[in-house]
Amino acid sequence: MKQMGVGLLGFGTVGAGVVDGLQRNRELLAHRIGADIVVRRIADVDLSRDRGVAVDPAILTTDARAVINDPSVDIVVELIGGTGIARTLVTEALKAGKAVVTANKKLLAEYGEEIFSLAEEAGVDLYFGASVGGGIPIVRVLREGLVGNTIQSLFGILNGTCNYILTRMENESLPFDEALKAAQAAGYAESNPSLDVDGFDTAHKAVILASLAYGFHVPMSVAAVEGIRSLAGVDVQFARELGYRIKLLAVIRGDGTEVEVRVHPTLVARDHMLASVSHVFNAVMVRGDLSGDTLYYGRGAGREPTASTVIGDIGDVARNLLAGSPRHSRGIAKLSSEPLRVRALSAIHSRYYLRLMVVDRAGSLGQFTTILGKHGVSIHAVSQKGGAEAQEGGFVPVVTLTHLAREADVDAALAEIRAAGIVGEDPVKLRMLD
Ligand code: NDP
Ligand code: HSE
Repeated sequence: MKQMGVGLLGFGTVGAGVVDGLQRNRELLAHRIGADIVVRRIADVDLSRDRGVAVDPAILTTDARAVINDPSVDIVVELIGGTGIARTLVTEALKAGKAVVTANKKLLAEYGEEIFSLAEEAGVDLYFGASVGGGIPIVRVLREGLVGNTIQSLFGILNGTCNYILTRMENESLPFDEALKAAQAAGYAESNPSLDVDGFDTAHKAVILASLAYGFHVPMSVAAVEGIRSLAGVDVQFARELGYRIKLLAVIRGDGTEVEVRVHPTLVARDHMLASVSHVFNAVMVRGDLSGDTLYYGRGAGREPTASTVIGDIGDVARNLLAGSPRHSRGIAKLSSEPLRVRALSAIHSRYYLRLMVVDRAGSLGQFTTILGKHGVSIHAVSQKGGAEAQEGGFVPVVTLTHLAREADVDAALAEIRAAGIVGEDPVKLRMLD
């Protein structure tokens, strides 16, 4: 049987999982793919650390270029992460005519246009399945299973760390910092956890999904991004009392003219399927014009689930190489028509959860609802939370759920409410899933 050589850049959490998986399921893979997948070289900066998987020390090196330039390496697997050395090495590998598999969403979200063009020019495969959804092969779903659909919307819980933190904040009333530490200890968080909790990791994945769904390179700069760092425990609990869970959601929606690409904490009704996605699990709900709603669920992070998707990509690249037809599956397939415009956040329509600390005096609630009405924001429900004991310095929390409204109108109303001196602190505004 023909052998196919893999060279690994980065022997960290995912890299070690890939080597372990390739070794454990070697025979099975060989039968399914028709080639024996062999790890020929592994580069990492630290060769002394125990990676929890046995490898021949002779294949280890600190020199990543020795891996790329090794003639026995057919497929370069980049698992270093980030946009520094990883970008240089992926570029060099593609220019050297090597097929590349990567899980690096930051690289593809920020430099995708450049990297995909290089792969096209070099006529080699670039697979990136694990860049979104960890163990969920959602990239493959969009490239293959749903290829015949016009995608109408994608709603995704795409960051395991945030979902884990939100679940523990809701279920155990755990403070944000403590929940983050637990997620880091479990190996879910990026080395810079700000990428997770400030929403950028989700946004990286969202622009990759949006690019796949709508056929143009959606730049990171057009994604609206809000993370969960400043989310107050009290809003998690109020949302729960009202029958909602707060999820960090990627919302991607196209109407044929414009596309929305946004990431923010979102109230999801408890009976919606996405509300039951807890802990490190991710899920993506995709609506196609032919398929209707479809749902994909699984572990969005971690050594083995991510390795599963990386190995799936290695298998596809190996099949393409065996068949002598690289570029079998196009990266971001550009549509020939004009790219869609990305809708500004101020122009979106959503339902909103508003929490205001309203001054506890006669008429202030009336003033507040009048201002909302003046801006065309219709109220679905209002409730004053807590009794006298809940009042702090004469202010009382009032939670309002609106009907569908335009973001710019809600913002204008909140600005006027602030100026009217009827609230004690900045209002909290969270979007709801329609
Ligand atoms: P890790 O930090 O665990 O692993 C990266 C490894 O690369 C480290 O061992 C690091 O060494 C090594 N490295 C750094 N610089 C070089 C270099 N110049 N040459 C060779 N090796 C180098 O990251 P992960 O395994 O968690 O993530 C890898 C990629 O997978 C990232 O793009 C990440 O976003 C993505 N990903 C991760 C998931 C997860 O659950 N962890 C899920 C989905 C995607 P050292 O630590 O000593 O610096
Ligand atoms: N830090 C990421 C997460 C890893 O928590 O989802 C998977 O991309």
